[in-house]
Amino acid sequence: MNRCWAEIDLAALERNLRLIRKALPEGIRYVAVVKADAYGHGIRPTAARLMQSGVDLFAVANVQEASEIREMGSGWPILVLGPLLPEEDEALATHDLIATVSSREELDRFEAVARESGKTLPIQLKIDTGMGRLGVWWEEAPELLKDARSRKRLHLQGALTHFANPSDEVFTQRQRDLFHQILRAEGLLGKPEFLVHADNSSSLQAMAGNDPCNAVRIGLLQFGVSPPAGTPLANLKVEPVFSFHTRLALVKCLPAGVTVSYGRLHRLTRDSRIGLLSAGYGDAIPLTCGNRAEVLVRGKRHPIIGRVTMDQTLIDLTDAPEDVNPGETVTLIGRQGEGIIELPELAKHAETIPWDILCSVTKRVQRVYKTARE
Ligand SMILES: Cc1ncc(COP(=O)(O)O)c(C=O)c1O
Repeated sequence: MNRCWAEIDLAALERNLRLIRKALPEGIRYVAVVKADAYGHGIRPTAARLMQSGVDLFAVANVQEASEIREMGSGWPILVLGPLLPEEDEALATHDLIATVSSREELDRFEAVARESGKTLPIQLKIDTGMGRLGVWWEEAPELLKDARSRKRLHLQGALTHFANPSDEVFTQRQRDLFHQILRAEGLLGKPEFLVHADNSSSLQAMAGNDPCNAVRIGLLQFGVSPPAGTPLANLKVEPVFSFHTRLALVKCLPAGVTVSYGRLHRLTRDSRIGLLSAGYGDAIPLTCGNRAEVLVRGKRHPIIGRVTMDQTLIDLTDAPEDVNPGETVTLIGRQGEGIIELPELAKHAETIPWDILCSVTKRVQRVYKTARE
């Protein structure tokens, strides 16, 4: 037993992937987004299971993440979503990666690497249709697309865009239309070998129609969390992959009127039995959960009291059975007996988004993998 651990249910990940695939129109390719250590789930075990479960392509943020997947095996297509630093360009050739291009300068740099390595390098072009981050601004996209296609040593194998606010249907549709128009004008739609992708977990429902995209990029949903922006692919019952637990390290009684933890932000209103969890914000319990979130002990909810500290978090156990003692397992995210706390609930208490919680799980939280297929 550990002090604090995240349980990662790889079988649930596999079931989610199959469920999402089944709900997508025929022939849509699945780009598995596994950046930020596969959203905190551990890039290697996660990618290994996704390889067995049948993804078409991996997407990561940077060359370092890409090389972790490449070490697991040659052949898997890996798209680097983020821009490369100039000293990283060589990795495109040595690690056999697909770069995302936003500028002419990048085309020049990658062409030089292709020439030096004697290879033809695959690239995908990102079009900024309103995200205002990566990608060539849409008005300049036709010119850059033509340039990219003219480079002998580069193979333009796809195009992508990214939605700024999928819950805003009007703006998302505008982004979608711009993207399609540009690619249609270049004769790049409807070619099975040319990957066209825009949708992530939050906007997937739009794929149910006759969208000309032939791929999707899925992160959060495959990990069993429906994004807050709406119900993706209505009624899709994905299962949580991630749960987060710790253990009770100390139980003590304090009289009414005493304040607990830093800042004296919680005063006991009755003689209380309080429990110390052996985890804090140094593990992944957001500071902002203090005096707000709840945890599960023997399947029942108990409140976090006072400020969360680096290594400990306090809970009110006054209403818990008397034999709840040090060593008892406490669940912050996940199911315990009859009780369940889902990741979006904790994120809401923490005033953040589920992606942020997952990416904040620190190194000292042990990952325990559940691998068995049921
Ligand atoms: C460019 C890009 N595509 C796809 C995704 C996956 O998004 P989601 O986790 O909502 O599926 C992300 C996530 O941050 C992203 O940055």
